[in-house]
Amino acid sequence: MALDPRRAAVWQAMGLGPVWQSRGSAPVAAEDRTATVPAVEPVQASAAAVAMDWPTLRERVASCVACGLCKTRTQTVFGVGHAQAHWMIVGEAPGAEEDARGEPFVGQAGRLLDNMLASVGMSRQAAGATEAVFIANVLKCRPPNNRNPEPSEVASCQPFLQRQLELVGPKLVIVMGRFAAQSLLATEASIASLRGKVHGIDVAGRRVPVIVTYHPAYLLRNLADKSKSWADLCLARSTYRDLADRAAQ
Ligand code: URA
Repeated sequence: MALDPRRAAVWQAMGLGPVWQSRGSAPVAAEDRTATVPAVEPVQASAAAVAMDWPTLRERVASCVACGLCKTRTQTVFGVGHAQAHWMIVGEAPGAEEDARGEPFVGQAGRLLDNMLASVGMSRQAAGATEAVFIANVLKCRPPNNRNPEPSEVASCQPFLQRQLELVGPKLVIVMGRFAAQSLLATEASIASLRGKVHGIDVAGRRVPVIVTYHPAYLLRNLADKSKSWADLCLARSTYRDLADRAAQ
């Protein structure tokens, strides 16, 4: 899928090149292109995340003032889980509870996420990397009143998530919700058209499979779609197992 030229220019300017470029997504019908993440504007500071180690990255996120969200946050929300987790979960941005507690997905949606992960044998608390997830958001700070993230905020924060991906080195990534999916896969396609396929991103020269599913907060309001989300998790599990089997051969 062709990348929005403005967005492509930003990736280029940040030296991110193809890192976030999705390959292999099916073309999307015009009627599927509903509300989309707006194109990203030029960026600044946090691009220096590129070579940071984990403690430095954590510190840099905690003290970040690269966008206006630093003025309204209680604290940053770095992420949680095993630092070498085999799965990485990417959500949108902290909400009120996450902002208060400093951990992603701790509200009702977080409890649903934990249950969903447990159903496929994965957990944010697992001691072993193979059963562990690392959970992070596209944005590390809460947008006031839970408004949608601004393109400039996404651009400021993006190097942090990219570096987290590089350092964790997940074997599989699950993106939750339209916003995270469109940001990570650099696409304007709808979530309906992105689900049910194995996408991919390049992380530090390695192709990592990406599965798109609904955001847990959406599932709380749309119970009928839980079965689709279960199918997505099954796809994630089988994709991961195939990879592990291939690696063992
Ligand atoms: N929604 C998200 O996308 N992330 C969180 O951490 C909490 C709610």
